[in-house]
Amino acid sequence: MIPQMSRRGKFVTFEGLDGTGKSTQLRKLAAVLRAAGHEVVETREPGGTLTGEKIRKVLLDSGTAGLSPLAEMALMFASRAQHIAEVIEPALARGGIVLCDRFTDSTEAYQGYGRRLGSEAVRELHRVLCGNLQPELTILLDSDAALCVSRARQRNKRDSKSSTRGHDENRFEQETRAFFTRVHDGYLAIAKREPGRVAIVDARGTPGQTHERIAELVRKKMRL
Ligand code: TYD
Repeated sequence: MIPQMSRRGKFVTFEGLDGTGKSTQLRKLAAVLRAAGHEVVETREPGGTLTGEKIRKVLLDSGTAGLSPLAEMALMFASRAQHIAEVIEPALARGGIVLCDRFTDSTEAYQGYGRRLGSEAVRELHRVLCGNLQPELTILLDSDAALCVSRARQRNKRDSKSSTRGHDENRFEQETRAFFTRVHDGYLAIAKREPGRVAIVDARGTPGQTHERIAELVRKKMRL
């Protein structure tokens, strides 16, 4: 039993390029925190709610042709606003720990930098649509950009072959190397601007090594 259950919970986000192993690391951290007796909610964006998962399908399916960058950004935020209302805020109000695979930093990196919509538009929308909700900690998994993207491409090819859902999640993987370089630059700029929130974790080692780094960070920064 954890004391002080009436206290607001903690919001932790995982960020990084496609194929950095975010989801694996999120699962591993969730297991450790649960074993220590915490209520943990694992979730992701775009998605995390029924409505959000429908939006995710539109956003990631490579059959979605000609989506404008602004429409793409608006859909990311539509999914997020629903996710905050339905999942994140209620869990934090219960005192839970929310581990979220991607959040607004993804929109700033991918749409702001990758699609060149700029940081200010993203940050303004975040204020209006997300009540400016900020994670206590953001774990930015950093690795070689080209390697990450080729890993993500392989995984998605494999997943769409075995998929019975009738859609793939390849739309972003089709982007150019220049796009992912801009996304990577975006992430580094965010980390530089907000060093108190964003911790860069080297993800080039084994999953076990990366997990150790993350667990240590969470212990230190969040006293969990
Ligand atoms: P995700 O499922 O986390 O992909 P991966 O496991 O390959 O990292 O995210 C799906 C894609 O959506 C990913 O290419 C990044 C993109 N994305 C944005 O462009 N903007 C956003 O705001 C979010 C949340 C994701």
